[in-house]
Amino acid sequence: ADPNYDYDVLVIGAGPGGYVAAIRAAQLGLKVACVEGRETLGGTCLNVGCIPSKALLHASEYFDAATNGTMADMGIEVKPKLNLEKMHGQRRDAVKGLTGGIEFLFKKNKVDWLKGYGTFTDAHTVKVGDKSYTAKDVVIATGSSVTPLPGVDVDNDGGIVVDSTGALELAKVPQHMVVIGGGVIGLELGSVWRRLGAKVTCVEFLDEILPGMDGDIRKEARKIFKKQGIEFKLSTKVTGVAVKGKKATLTMEPSAGGDAETIEVDCVLVSIGRRPNTDGLGLDAIGLETNKRGQIETDHEFRTAVDGVWAIGDVVPGPMLAHKAEDEGIAVAENIAGQTGIVNHDIIPSVVYTWPEIAGVGLTTEEAIEKMGGDKKAVKVGKFPMMANSRAKTNHEPDGFVKVIAEAESDRVLGVWCIASVAGTMIAEAGIAMEFGATSEDIAYTCHAHPTHAEAMKEAAMAVQGKAIHV
Ligand code: FAD
Ligand code: NAI
Repeated sequence: ADPNYDYDVLVIGAGPGGYVAAIRAAQLGLKVACVEGRETLGGTCLNVGCIPSKALLHASEYFDAATNGTMADMGIEVKPKLNLEKMHGQRRDAVKGLTGGIEFLFKKNKVDWLKGYGTFTDAHTVKVGDKSYTAKDVVIATGSSVTPLPGVDVDNDGGIVVDSTGALELAKVPQHMVVIGGGVIGLELGSVWRRLGAKVTCVEFLDEILPGMDGDIRKEARKIFKKQGIEFKLSTKVTGVAVKGKKATLTMEPSAGGDAETIEVDCVLVSIGRRPNTDGLGLDAIGLETNKRGQIETDHEFRTAVDGVWAIGDVVPGPMLAHKAEDEGIAVAENIAGQTGIVNHDIIPSVVYTWPEIAGVGLTTEEAIEKMGGDKKAVKVGKFPMMANSRAKTNHEPDGFVKVIAEAESDRVLGVWCIASVAGTMIAEAGIAMEFGATSEDIAYTCHAHPTHAEAMKEAAMAVQGKAIHV
């Protein structure tokens, strides 16, 4: 360790980016501290994001299967009774167990947790409370928070107009919930409350949900959610929400302008995106500017424009995903330690944990065609429906498909998209294949166990050559 500094590495923020960076840096023999202002470690993901949302998604999925007839179709006849407090209890337990686990890992790896919010006083000094700490290298991993919607005041404690954090804690099932934004949070948390009995209306500014995903997938996903009972208002923007007593009156109008309409509901979820956390960090003190979107720009090694200051996770450009933040955490620590830490940003899977799940990695069909200069023939697509997959069909999970997108000339896989009960698990195979530069033929000629959902990936790859067997 350099005797001129208190620490070799000081990480600001203990989310999946920061805590992973801190642990990896410690594993590499560096003296490390991590500053975190929350009462528990793990950041957005473990406290109010990935983990609690999945706890409710998992539990509500069982409830839905019991109420909507899926279980009865398999000969299990039950009349489920919702114990919402217990469902919340198991969510809190999951969060407690995992955030406690990070605290254990910090102790095990001798990472000091500096409790409080950190502010730069210079590039090597961070003030936490009334103490200052110095470090040779500082990693900014402060994450993101909810983007507010002008005219809509979130009050999570009130439980009427909430953001994702409030929507995880609702004390009773709303009668009618409006979800503003047909993105990942709106669809996941909208699904939770729909399954537990709420009527759910999703208002989306654009003409289709899930922007950024493959066009076919977006359309099919909406069809499935509609069948499940979610109502969609596309190309519509919310202009205001007024709360009176226990009701909220929501005003909306066509995105392109037009007549306004209002509806009265008992819960509104604002989920129109997230923005980077840089307020109060003291970036001015080190002369570090953010870009137009409020993000901190870095080079390929995660160095910012200021020497000795690095940045990773939601606070830098790229998808706001926990696994992306974690991989950047490992890479930045390795780079600080003089090794070569790399993240392949072209191959970051994204998964929506609805029922069925929606997952993708690499380019969408639209992006692939654009990359080929608009030449549709330069791209080959193979699709295989889950309905024709023996395991999915046997399990009463017929919805969805797998789509493999390859470059026509080289057959190299450019992207894979799927909607399937276990799409999130299936997509890992596609990521590995693409990381190794696989062709669709490589996937097609790899033996996949039978009967598994993964066989649909193999068949979609076979379909690229027009040679799927089971359709
Ligand atoms: P964060 O997890 O946001 O952590 C940053 C931490 O820094 C916070 O704990 C904050 O308190 C702390 N901090 C901020 N400023 C300071 C400061 N000045 N001093 C000290 N500490 C500070 N992603 C997925 O991949 N899969 C999912 O299923 C998923 N589900 C999600 C569900 C919800 C409801 C939400 C909101 C997000 C979800 N995400 C999911 C996104 C995921 O949570 C983020 O991408 C991820 O947490 C980003 O990690 P991070 O380390 O960059 O930042
Ligand atoms: P999002 O960016 O996924 O979706 C926001 C949606 O709101 C978009 O479709 C957008 O067009 C729409 N929108 C924007 N302004 C609007 C307006 N005024 N009226 C109506 N619609 C409007 O953002 P979301 O869902 O808030 O999630 C934030 C981020 O959290 C995600 O981008 C993702 O990175 C992360 N996340 C990831 C999850 C996962 O990996 N499973 C789960 C939950 C969150």
